[in-house]
Amino acid sequence: MIISAFGVADTDAVIKLWQVCDLVRAWNDPQKDIDRKMTDRNGAFWVGRVGGDIMASVMIGYDGHRGSINYLAIDPAFKGQGYGRQLMQQAETFLISIGCPKISFCVRRDNEPVVQFYDALGYKPDDVFFFGKRLIPDD
Ligand SMILES: CC(C)(COP(=O)(O)OP(=O)(O)OC[C@H]1O[C@@H](n2cnc3c(N)ncnc32)[C@H](O)[C@@H]1OP(=O)(O)O)[C@@H](O)C(=O)NCCC(=O)NCCS
Repeated sequence: MIISAFGVADTDAVIKLWQVCDLVRAWNDPQKDIDRKMTDRNGAFWVGRVGGDIMASVMIGYDGHRGSINYLAIDPAFKGQGYGRQLMQQAETFLISIGCPKISFCVRRDNEPVVQFYDALGYKPDDVFFFGKRLIPDD
């Protein structure tokens, strides 16, 4: 897998990937999420390609205290071949390189396969409430 920075020309392929990976929610417009990410100067937004075609993505954030992961997606046709681990390892290396001390993100409790994926990568659930408040509605 070749990992590179997202470019605007990748938009359609990335949204299609998120749809196939069931990551699109009515309350999160994927195009708006991409546009907003393009204004972020602290993190990164990468795509992964095999044979030239986009089959993976990850959005990485850093707020000065913790790093975050969003839209981690591996096309189901490429599942279970170590690509998710590769992308997360590169994300960790990137966050360390910019001085980020820790990484936190949310996974739905009932999303057992993803819970097992992160467990295999050494992530443990924090004993916290994940608080949220919508500031700009997308839907
Ligand atoms: C979750 C996801 C990123 C995993 O990517 P992947 O490339 O299939 O995972 P890898 O092949 O790199 O697996 C890494 C490790 O996780 C484990 N793992 C991966 N998927 C698993 C599953 N469904 N059940 C149990 N373990 C799993 C693997 O066994 C492997 O462990 P090992 O290296 O010790 O053998 C991918 O399936 C995906 O994109 N899913 C849909 C989108 C999604 O839910 N994203 C996360 C949003 S929070």
